[in-house]
Amino acid sequence: MPTFSYCLLLLFLPLLFCTFHANIAQNLIPETCKKCAANDPNLSYNFCVSSLQASNRSQCDNLRGLGMMSIKLIKYNVTNTRHYVKNLLKNKKMDPFIRACLNDCLDLYSDAIPTLKQAMIDYKSKHYKDANIEVSSVIDAATTCEDGFEDKEGAVSPLTKRNNDTFQLSAIALALINML
Ligand SMILES: *[C@@H]1O[C@H](CO)[C@@H](O)[C@H](O)[C@H]1NC(C)=O
Ligand SMILES: *[C@@H]1O[C@H](CO)[C@@H](O)[C@H](O)[C@H]1NC(C)=O
Ligand SMILES: *[C@@H]1O[C@H](CO)[C@@H](O)[C@H](O)[C@H]1NC(C)=O
Ligand SMILES: *[C@@H]1O[C@H](CO)[C@@H](O)[C@H](O)[C@H]1NC(C)=O
Repeated sequence: MPTFSYCLLLLFLPLLFCTFHANIAQNLIPETCKKCAANDPNLSYNFCVSSLQASNRSQCDNLRGLGMMSIKLIKYNVTNTRHYVKNLLKNKKMDPFIRACLNDCLDLYSDAIPTLKQAMIDYKSKHYKDANIEVSSVIDAATTCEDGFEDKEGAVSPLTKRNNDTFQLSAIALALINML
């Protein structure tokens, strides 16, 4: 092969490779979300697709990259919710029951942040079993937080949507971890 063509090939090969992978990634998200939603009736297919598609796509994606991304998304959500709860607690006139629940949620979400950092470390080093346990504990945290408000009749959780988002994102991450 003439040197020139050879160089040209070398130049375009990575590009071809990336385009090829981008095509896989485009199908990867819907396909993965379909599997996740089929395995877990609590998981919304639409939520799965929209959260994963909004994530960073600058790299050539693959299942393993997608899993890491999903853990990062939970960490972002959890950090955000923790700030939100801290702000709510600044209101001095809050109902004492709601305040007590929010304090519990603050503890739960505060603990979830280092847990997720550890999950990312474990995931990176392919300790999927540990990552599974850590992400599962975040599902429990969101559920426990939400359930607290149900102990008193008429009490309304100000965190329902956020707890549900954390629950959904964690369920997605868990499904991805279990596919590896
Ligand atoms: C779905 O959610 C309900 C209520 O939170 C829970 O009891 C049930 O175990 C969940 N199912 C799965 C498959 O996670
Ligand atoms: C996307 O990922 C790249 C490489 O990992 C990073 O440099 C960039 O800041 C990320 N962009 C966003 C919007 O997160
Ligand atoms: C949590 O993540 C979901 C899906 O990525 C997003 O729609 C929502 O705005 C996030 N919520 C917070 C509080 O960060
Ligand atoms: C949780 O969020 C998903 C996706 O947005 C939605 O389909 C589901 O009904 C929500 N569940 C609850 C209990 O709010």
